[in-house]
Amino acid sequence: AVTDAPILVAIDGPAGSGKSSVSRAAAERLAFGILDTGAAYRALAWTALETGTDLDDPAAVEMLLAAWRYETALRGDARVLVRVPGHVEADVTAAIREPDISAQVSRVSKHPGVRDGLNAMFRRIVADSGLPGVVIEGRDITTVVAPDAPVRILMTASAEVRAHRRAGELPGLSHEHVLADIEARDAKDALVVDFFTAAPGVTTIDTSDLDFDGSVDAVIAVVRGAQNEL
Ligand code: DC
Repeated sequence: AVTDAPILVAIDGPAGSGKSSVSRAAAERLAFGILDTGAAYRALAWTALETGTDLDDPAAVEMLLAAWRYETALRGDARVLVRVPGHVEADVTAAIREPDISAQVSRVSKHPGVRDGLNAMFRRIVADSGLPGVVIEGRDITTVVAPDAPVRILMTASAEVRAHRRAGELPGLSHEHVLADIEARDAKDALVVDFFTAAPGVTTIDTSDLDFDGSVDAVIAVVRGAQNEL
C-alpha cells in the first residue's frame, strides 16, 4: 500500500541549544518519528577514523559513504549501527558522543559532496518511514534538507546557557572549557551552514529562559499552530 508522505517538522540550531533532547521529546508527544542528522555526521566521522580514511579528503570520504550502511530507528531507542561490508560493523551509540568525535566531525561535514550524499539518505529514511510525521533536526534542515516542511523551527540559546547545559552533560570539565569547545565547533560549522539566522518563514524559539518542558511545549505550540492552518 502507498502511504502519504510524513508531515515534517524541521528543527535547526547550534550545539547545546537543547535541540536534540527537546526534538526527541516533542516527537514522542506527537507520536512522530525523530531523525537526528548530527548523529549520522558523527557516525560517518567515527567510521572514517575506524577505517583509516583521511577525513579531510572529500573523495576518500565520499567513497567511504558509498559503501557505508547506517541504521537507526525513528521511534524508540536512539541506537545507531554502522556497517561497511567486509570492514566494520558496530553499535556506535555511545562512541559518537565522545568529545573526540565532537572535535573531529566538522572535518567530514565540511565537504559539500558528503553533505549531498547524507541529505539524500535523510530524505530516503523519512520517505520510507511509514510514519504520519517525522521531526528532523540538524543545522541545515530548514534551509537545505526540507525547505518545504510545513513546520520549520530555529532553536537558539545564548552561548552562556548552551555551555552551562553542556557542562551539566559532561561532568569533570570546567564551564570555561566547555564554552571554548562549543564556540570553536560552532565557528567551524558556521563556515559551512548558517544556523544562527532564521531563514524566511522559519520560527525562532529561544530557549535561554525556558526549562526543558517549556522548550518542548514551545515546539508543540508551533506544530499545533501550523496544523490549524492546514
Ligand atoms: O548536532 P550534533 O552536535 O550532534 O552535530 C554533530 C556535527 O555534525 C556538528 O558539529 C555539525 C554537523 N552537522 C551538520 O553539519 N549538519 C547537520 N544537519 C547536522 C550536523
